[in-house]
Amino acid sequence: MAKLGIPGGRRKPAPEHHPRIRAMRMTDVAHVHAIDCAVSAIPWPRHMLHAELGKSGTVDIVCVIGNEVVGFVLTSRYADVWHVLNVAVRPDHWRRGIGRMMLVEVIERAQLLPNLGFTLEVRVSNHGAIALYRKLGFIDHGARPRYYTDNNEDALIMWRDGIPEDAVAEGRR
Ligand SMILES: CC(C)(COP(=O)(O)OP(=O)(O)OC[C@H]1O[C@@H](n2cnc3c(N)ncnc32)[C@H](O)[C@@H]1OP(=O)(O)O)[C@@H](O)C(=O)NCCC(=O)NCCS
Repeated sequence: MAKLGIPGGRRKPAPEHHPRIRAMRMTDVAHVHAIDCAVSAIPWPRHMLHAELGKSGTVDIVCVIGNEVVGFVLTSRYADVWHVLNVAVRPDHWRRGIGRMMLVEVIERAQLLPNLGFTLEVRVSNHGAIALYRKLGFIDHGARPRYYTDNNEDALIMWRDGIPEDAVAEGRR
């Protein structure tokens, strides 16, 4: 077996390079906007990001490595459901578990209010994101025809049930 430090061995990242999750701050908006512009054909304008952060009833988080923002999730609470509004990871950090880690965190923070489900829309062609959501228990729940204005692509609506109150009380999911 290769030892740490020997060519071919895998070095453990130093703790300061571990991804960590924290609440999104107004000072993150420029970085979040840059990531959104890098990955989305219809990025949110900065003023929408500011407005979203100013609202109550949201779970808005970023993933940081060192001082760099490498991903974000915006989630808003409606009367009967959490709506996952936007999820993105900086492309140079894709497939390292960051999207999954952020969504697990959102689900855990949101379960402080039990019984509310989660919904989201995703482009029908976005197989990677759909695979991620399915892994986290989201199921297909209909479609919104021509939802995306850049190319008239349909959105797949996905749904994940909320966590029942008694399960939250017992610390189960
Ligand atoms: C979708 C996105 C957020 C995924 O982030 P990520 O950090 O790369 O995802 P993870 O590494 O946590 O992936 C977890 C699992 O999701 C699935 N998955 C993620 N990206 C995938 C891809 N491109 N193709 C196939 N499966 C994928 C895999 O099952 C993966 O597990 P594995 O790597 O062990 O096979 C990222 O690709 C992204 O920012 N895309 C552009 C923005 C976007 O499409 N957002 C969603 C809008 S609804």
